Amino acid sequence: MYSLGINAAFHDSAACLVADGRIVAAVEEERLTGIKHGKRPVPFSAYELPFHAIDACLAAAGIELADVDRVGYSFDPEILTGSLSGHESIVLPLEPSAPGNQKSGETPWEQLFVAHIVNAPRHLRSGFPHHLQKRFLGVADDPGYVWRFLSHHLCHAASAFLPSPFEEAAVMTLDGRGERATTGYWLGSGMKLEAVDQVDFPNSLGMLYERVTEHLGFLHSSDEYKVMALASFGEPTYAARLRELVHRTSGGQYVVRPLPLAEWFGPARQRGEPFEQCHFDLAQSVQIVLEEVALGLASWLQEETGSRQLCLAGGVALNCVMNSAIRDAGIFDDIWVQPAAGDAGTALGAALLLDAEGGSRSRAPMDDAYLGPEFSPNEIECVLRHAKLRYERPPDLIKPVVEALCRDEVVGWFQGRMEFGPRALGARSILASPLHAEMQARLNEIKDREDFRPVAPAVLEEEMEDWFAPQGPSPFMLFVHDVLPDRADRIPAVRHVDGTARIQTVRRDQNPLYHDLLSAFAARTGVPVLVNTSFNTQGKPIVCMPRDALECFFSSPLDVLAMGPFLIRKEWV
Ligand SMILES: [Fe+2]
Repeated sequence: MYSLGINAAFHDSAACLVADGRIVAAVEEERLTGIKHGKRPVPFSAYELPFHAIDACLAAAGIELADVDRVGYSFDPEILTGSLSGHESIVLPLEPSAPGNQKSGETPWEQLFVAHIVNAPRHLRSGFPHHLQKRFLGVADDPGYVWRFLSHHLCHAASAFLPSPFEEAAVMTLDGRGERATTGYWLGSGMKLEAVDQVDFPNSLGMLYERVTEHLGFLHSSDEYKVMALASFGEPTYAARLRELVHRTSGGQYVVRPLPLAEWFGPARQRGEPFEQCHFDLAQSVQIVLEEVALGLASWLQEETGSRQLCLAGGVALNCVMNSAIRDAGIFDDIWVQPAAGDAGTALGAALLLDAEGGSRSRAPMDDAYLGPEFSPNEIECVLRHAKLRYERPPDLIKPVVEALCRDEVVGWFQGRMEFGPRALGARSILASPLHAEMQARLNEIKDREDFRPVAPAVLEEEMEDWFAPQGPSPFMLFVHDVLPDRADRIPAVRHVDGTARIQTVRRDQNPLYHDLLSAFAARTGVPVLVNTSFNTQGKPIVCMPRDALECFFSSPLDVLAMGPFLIRKEWV
């Protein structure tokens, strides 16, 4: 039985295919279209379905859409509008009304909502791009599958609990907003999720952070992690003021009142303008208040459910400093965070919910996030030949890559199935030596990133306790760990200004080649750590296909590309 989950509601458009308790594939649309977050600017097609991602999922299974049994969309319009019965095939123009033509109370946003969310079933059957026809034919008249709209936060919760290692856990979801909810609480047990409570719009920790992100001159729903990095340079000067407007009330409820940021700080910082101390302090203040409220909510949820395990998802759960504050408070014995905690993960949650609804009794634990497209050596070699590039196929790829890393060269690393979620985890990564502090600035320059942004380390899981604290696996870069003081001088490139690092631990069964590379680097240098940052340049999604990797390699100062079994050096061209 195949269940297809789709997210296209706000951003991070994605698809996921699950078959009888097994995650077959999960892909973000941005990786295939090059449009970051899969969101085309309004007024075009802000809600276009992830056709390319669906195609990639079906291709991974070798099936067509007509073979799918259930399709779930991770947004339920009925929660917003009441019953839609009789309106499932409302057809509206894709473009919003021209100004002046709108009926009273109607906005272009509402028309897009109806056109692309309410009409999603119709679009899936007939709206696909022509070059994807091969896997979409045969469903136009008789879909052959059950269509379900599913609550956005329920999908986040399912993505957090069902792939977790826990049989029973408290579940908390935090994001900007779903249909109405901005925060959700569940108790997960076996294959079931029991709702505990929720917080509704406009009280939203996600939107609070988005608002500050915008005021600091970044893109909301995209650049929140930059604010988190900026916070380390500031003092919580404004936390008291923020607490007056943002605080818990009772139980799992909290309020977020409108922030008079312009009144407090003057006009928003414009992109490219220098940072002032007030920007750092605002970032630190909102981070502190977020952590305080989230800790309070987590504590309440623990008491309410009695569970000692916590699962987290929703875009706010990508805030690894907040996750670490919850971990360090000791409220729960163990925490698992969905690696695609943002909205892409709701496609996975939707597919898992439908799989369970269809009678599947097996859980689908995610030991790794390698769920995307992969390319065979033949496919990669075809691209290299077509581009008339000089390349080599060394008998042992690891050896020349380690030599390059030891020469402080920067390596594009393209291996196996692509990661699902925003973090590169050793499948589409840029790798470098952590031994010299200058590497951080060099990587930020390569990626055209702000100077304050840290780069993160990958470390052999079996060695992590000698380098970082607290101990314990962290395979998805969703927590920060302190760099042990006596090791800090050995890996200066990956130590953030506050002494922490957002680590990825690597076990051999998760990614054998990556593990071998880290082991070989450790054998040469005594350091089982590499710098790992995503294989992309600024404003672009992480590369997915061999051609994307070549474009990124040749348009940035990378030195070496290790793609499949092949090696390409910039100096050969
Ligand atoms: Fe969400």
